[in-house]
Amino acid sequence: MRMISGLLGMALAYAFSQPVLADDLPPLDPGVKPKEAHEWVDPMKLGGSEYCGHCHTDIFHQWNASTHHFSSFNNPVYRKVVTRTIERKGQPTFAFCANCHDPILKSSGETDKLDADNWKANAGITCLSCHRIMEIGAGNGDYRIAEPTLHPFALSDNPTLAKAHKTMIELTPWLHRRVLTKPFYGNPEYCAACHSLTVPSSINGLAPISLTDEFGQLHRRHQNVHGEDLPGRCIDCHMPEVPSNDPAAKDGLIRSHRFAGSNTALPTFNRDLDQREVVETFLSSGIVALRVAGVRTRPEDPFRSGEEVPAQAGDHVEIALEVRNVRAGHQFPTGTVDSNEAWLSTIVTDANARALVTLGQIDEQGLVPADAIRFGTRFVDAAGNFTDRRNTTSDAVSIAEDSVIPIRGSRTVFVGFTIPANAASPFTALFTLNWRKYSPAFIAWVFDGRDTPPLPVTPLASLRLTLPATTSINRN
Ligand code: HEC
Ligand code: HEC
Ligand code: HEC
Ligand code: HEC
Ligand code: HEC
Repeated sequence: MRMISGLLGMALAYAFSQPVLADDLPPLDPGVKPKEAHEWVDPMKLGGSEYCGHCHTDIFHQWNASTHHFSSFNNPVYRKVVTRTIERKGQPTFAFCANCHDPILKSSGETDKLDADNWKANAGITCLSCHRIMEIGAGNGDYRIAEPTLHPFALSDNPTLAKAHKTMIELTPWLHRRVLTKPFYGNPEYCAACHSLTVPSSINGLAPISLTDEFGQLHRRHQNVHGEDLPGRCIDCHMPEVPSNDPAAKDGLIRSHRFAGSNTALPTFNRDLDQREVVETFLSSGIVALRVAGVRTRPEDPFRSGEEVPAQAGDHVEIALEVRNVRAGHQFPTGTVDSNEAWLSTIVTDANARALVTLGQIDEQGLVPADAIRFGTRFVDAAGNFTDRRNTTSDAVSIAEDSVIPIRGSRTVFVGFTIPANAASPFTALFTLNWRKYSPAFIAWVFDGRDTPPLPVTPLASLRLTLPATTSINRN
């Protein structure tokens, strides 16, 4: 009887654990705490993802490898950048970063007494940080988390409580579901709460600037273009269904919590080959496509299709190459567009497979050459300097260079080279669009020069063009 009333008590506590939220919350100003002190969440009640993993084993392992787990001081890149930000701009700026990167510190009101080595600053976006979001606003980390009545830490440490909890889930699965999911979790607006980022003037000191807005791009595309084969939700691409015997699986499938995107750096630092492979496979699954739009050998000529151009040794060849964003649900690249490396490389060979020209090849220091054709955005701060230390989120005021490819759009780039006089035709140009999460120069800064495994260069797309020359006779 005591057992039953205890369980009932827990069940009731669960059912009444809905948050008390102010009806009209003030507009989010990152410098100001958005909640009243009585609404702070006990950090202990948002941690303990391992506890969920006792039953949701696959989901736990996927999440454990994901960037959501490493969103915080447990991510060396974030740790370095945010530490510098706090040094330069003060603690209130950290409250802005914490809105998205450190939900536990944000929700517990502990952004002003940061201890970077405490578990709270290293737990990342835990299961409960997402699964206890009750309400969302319009981006910049505007969401409300309410604490669950049950305590994952207490449960982990106390076998009797843990057993009672298990029995309760078995008896009243609807209660567990009700406490841990909301119908809007699958919607893109939910993800946009943290994935739409505008630097406010209170942070950059000048005027607001929008850095990322995948949701806005996806949403506008759906409103303006009908009948297109484009998934409407972030989870359709970033949480694909994968087989699992998880207790919550539907028809043997769960939503992958690996959240594959483009971060090949974190799994490299973590030496997590599985996650790295999943991300690299996602990236090389045909998200961008290359097409030769036209070729010419003299500036006064019109561009023509490759076969029709009589290229010969000594010619200066110009190739118009169209790079199309085929599969991303937003611009390519997106997110950390300031620090991603997406660039085109070209190798031209002659009939004897001898390399005649190489463009955009990584040099001995591992750097992408300065004249390579890149896809991304460069921002400047109020002094006109590039924000090239990932200080974009705190300092960017304007865009200096922009070469991202819009959603379902394309960008045409021009590749020019001179064929050496003694080369044997026909000539073959191999174009590759490459991806690297960060440049080695940036990584050296993050790790203060300490040795780190080199970041992978992932080919996203490639294309081969053979140029028949006028002298070429073997055309059959
Ligand atoms: C003792 C085992 C157990 C533990 C521990 C556990 N769960 Fe569950 N969970 C289940 C079972 C069983 C279901 C399926 C309930 C049903 O629908 O029948 C479930 C369902 C869910 C669902 C709902 C899935 C849906 O249908 O939408 C979510 C979300 C969830 N759990 C999250 C969590 C989180 C987060 C934690 C850690 C705080 C956790 N669970 C801890 C067993 C557990
Ligand atoms: C970034 C936010 C986020 C984090 C972190 C997160 N989840 Fe989820 N979870 C989701 C979303 C979104 C869904 C899918 C909701 C839908 O389909 O409507 C989901 C679905 C689930 C489900 C239902 C089964 C499925 O996969 O379809 C379970 C169970 C679950 N999560 C458990 C967990 C556990 C356990 C953790 C931590 C190890 C966790 N989640 C971390 C957002 C998150
Ligand atoms: C609480 C805030 C928050 C929510 C909610 C959230 N994210 Fe994230 N997400 C982040 C942060 C912060 C990062 C970057 C972590 C890092 O690298 O430091 C991230 C990273 C990612 C990445 C990895 C990007 C890469 O470069 O590999 C993907 C993909 C992603 N999120 C998708 C989603 C989807 C889909 C949803 C909705 C179901 C979602 N996120 C909900 C905060 C959030
Ligand atoms: C149609 C599939 C699709 C949809 C829908 C989609 N994405 Fe993506 N996303 C991709 C692909 C492919 C990439 C890798 C290429 C890139 O970076 O653009 C990616 C990359 C990302 C990245 C990593 C950015 C980087 O370059 O470092 C983030 C963050 C992200 N998506 C967030 C979102 C959010 C948030 C939504 C929903 C509003 C969303 N995505 C919807 C396909 C999709
Ligand atoms: C609106 C939510 C949001 C805010 C606010 C925010 N970020 Fe981020 N941040 C993200 C997301 C989402 C990503 C991942 C994007 C991607 O992978 O392309 C990210 C990525 C990063 C990364 C790269 C992490 C990695 O794994 O390589 C760093 C560093 C970073 N942010 C620093 C900061 C700092 C410093 C601040 C505060 C000045 C800040 N961010 C504020 C959402 C936010």
